[in-house]
Amino acid sequence: MTEHPWWRQAVVYQVYPRSFADSDGDGVGDLTGVRQHLGHIRDLGVDAVWLSPVYRSPMADAGYDISDYQDIDPTFGSLEDMDALLAEAHRLGLRVLMDFVPNHTSDQHAWFRESRSSRDNPKRDWYIWRDEPNNWRAALNAGSAWTWDEQTEQYYLHLFLPQQPDLNWRNPDVVEAMHDVLRFWLDRGVDGFRIDVAHCVGKDPEFADDQRCAAGEPLSDFNDQPYSHEVLRGIRKLVDSYPGDRVLVGEVNIRSTRRVAKYYGANDELHMSFNFPPLDAPWDPVVFRMCVREVEKELGTVAAWPTWVLSNHDNERHRTRYGGSMRRTRAAAVMLLTLRGTPFLYQGEELGLANAVITPESQVDPGGRDGARAPLPWLAAPPHGWDGKTPWLPFPPDAETLSAQRANDEPGSILQLYRRLISERRRSEALRVGDWTELPSPPEVLAYRRRAGDDTRIVAINFADHPQQFEVDGRWQVTIASEPDGEGEPFTGRLGAEQAVLLEPSR
Ligand code: GLC
Repeated sequence: MTEHPWWRQAVVYQVYPRSFADSDGDGVGDLTGVRQHLGHIRDLGVDAVWLSPVYRSPMADAGYDISDYQDIDPTFGSLEDMDALLAEAHRLGLRVLMDFVPNHTSDQHAWFRESRSSRDNPKRDWYIWRDEPNNWRAALNAGSAWTWDEQTEQYYLHLFLPQQPDLNWRNPDVVEAMHDVLRFWLDRGVDGFRIDVAHCVGKDPEFADDQRCAAGEPLSDFNDQPYSHEVLRGIRKLVDSYPGDRVLVGEVNIRSTRRVAKYYGANDELHMSFNFPPLDAPWDPVVFRMCVREVEKELGTVAAWPTWVLSNHDNERHRTRYGGSMRRTRAAAVMLLTLRGTPFLYQGEELGLANAVITPESQVDPGGRDGARAPLPWLAAPPHGWDGKTPWLPFPPDAETLSAQRANDEPGSILQLYRRLISERRRSEALRVGDWTELPSPPEVLAYRRRAGDDTRIVAINFADHPQQFEVDGRWQVTIASEPDGEGEPFTGRLGAEQAVLLEPSR
């Protein structure tokens, strides 16, 4: 069996720092808040934390618009707070990935201020300036991807908000400056990066109009240029020159698993890439069967290690996507943590949170993504551990019953289910790195076997809202069931409504 680096065997937990925990009572989460609640993450049993951006930022896009890559925004704390967080995480055996945003800076970044100051400024070419716009569209409801600059009378490119001008990675000075950013954090001890919109950095050198943009789609939904791969190879080389198996996981936000597979290169680009079709998928056995088969076919053949994600800060939480059903959300946890690949959890899914209800008055994000970004309810009683100013977004529904405090005390809570599944992964090589084979099953059941050496596990997920019979050869017992009936007993073949089970051979 080949050697499996830590990140293949890991479960990663995404922290969205604005909404994780607030230590200073200003209503916005911060790094000290994260540090103080690392115990929750450690007790969950995960291996690594990915922190959404905490760099200096005017917050036009909640920190994805960076004005200084080598400093922490005062909203979140200071460099010292970051060092303290890193040290404490490492002490607890947790690795830390930072969010690296290579495609664009903030329009307040010193580089862009220089670039826009005059046409002959040495940094003019660090960004993408043109006399004429093409038809490219920006994401986040921002309309054209080009904004006119009055002073220098040219347009600059931004695949996201006008406050997020795109860097020109064809300029070697940009490459060097951004590599310096990576070194800065690697030298401080971070264990890797999640690379924001990794597929966007290379642009079509012809700047050709695109039909999909004409139809209203933003370019960032499908941009897929060879030059992005060259940029990623450069970054990979740099990261690989550091000891300690640092890792790169890229956000390749293209809804095609086949194209996503290309971003692993010849094991010289991303170590792992997000693959988002399952993140869009409704609670539907046909859709999930397709998603999983696609991954096995497209990534399996090129030996690219898969990732699994059901929720993140850009999309509706999966509980909401599954019609609000806790039963489905529990069954999905069994699936997420037993498929072949590295699962990425989004803070709060271990509490079974649904999207917060956002009124027009409480809306912050121009992209309409606030619902998934609500603050985590730590304590049952309001203000749920967020003392001080009212948090920047409203709490999710049922904050009291779903609070971490309640979930901790309640033996059957979804939090306990996540903990047990993660701890079972730790015990089972088959679940961590074993191969994956689909098993024959009724159409509304997805069933598969995981195997490594003589460790074998079977998983069956019943998507139907009524019981199903699933026959499997041999004698099996139920290790974990999303709905408790049958747990710890011999498996009879009966799956309850929307119940998922993890089986091991009977002894
Ligand atoms: C990624 C981030 C998203 C951000 C965008 C622009 O998709 O996840 O939050 O708005 O990139 O940086």
